[in-house]
Amino acid sequence: MSEHTPTPKSVTEHPEEIPGYTYGTDEAAASPLTLEDLERLKAVVGLTDQDEQALRDAAEILADQADDMVTAYRRRLGELPFMRAYSGHPDGTPNPAYGAASQPRFDRFIIDACTRPLDQDWLNYQHEIGMRHTRAKKNATDHADSLDHIPMRYLLAFTAVVIATAREYLAAKGASAEQVDRMHAAFTKSVMLHVTVWTRPYVDAVDW
Ligand code: HEM
Repeated sequence: MSEHTPTPKSVTEHPEEIPGYTYGTDEAAASPLTLEDLERLKAVVGLTDQDEQALRDAAEILADQADDMVTAYRRRLGELPFMRAYSGHPDGTPNPAYGAASQPRFDRFIIDACTRPLDQDWLNYQHEIGMRHTRAKKNATDHADSLDHIPMRYLLAFTAVVIATAREYLAAKGASAEQVDRMHAAFTKSVMLHVTVWTRPYVDAVDW
């Protein structure tokens, strides 16, 4: 792995300072989902109280590695020429300003995915994140010049990378193998729950 650069303090301690991060504010989209929809999804993904405890443990281990994790995801996406126009300019050339502006919010997601209560604010901000991957809102937050929609198939397929690569970060601070397993299982469920809710703006309610 490359040299470790700790996650910026604004991400870990003062997320309200992150530009464009509207979690818990009126500026975030209103989710079309109900808390009952959320309870059902939680049951289907199998997220238990023990998982929520394991996620809190994971948050402590991942917090200062979140920026490294996101840097690694982006490096990986950048290695695929056909993926470059979604985070770069529409012709695929790099757009470092867009990357720099959106990365702290993505970093914050790693922490939020382990710590935020699953409530109405959570539902609303997940809908917002989903829209920020689609024509509804992509590029708008950072006024970016980039393709305006990330195909749902790539959003879903990339989930494999986010989940599989989490293990090495969870293991990086000396937790036992059993504890790493517990945290990794819980993180897997959490990421699947998030990404599933992000697909809502992609499809008709009746199909979703
Ligand atoms: C499981 C897969 C993925 C996860 C967990 C993820 C996570 C996130 C998060 C948390 C944000 C910040 C949202 C915000 O608070 O504003 C974000 C934004 C973004 N993601 Fe993803 N993402 C995934 C897949 C992808 C893929 C496949 C691409 C393709 C290049 C991508 C490109 C972007 C871009 C360009 C933004 C900025 C969107 C904007 O203009 O606001 N993401 N992503």
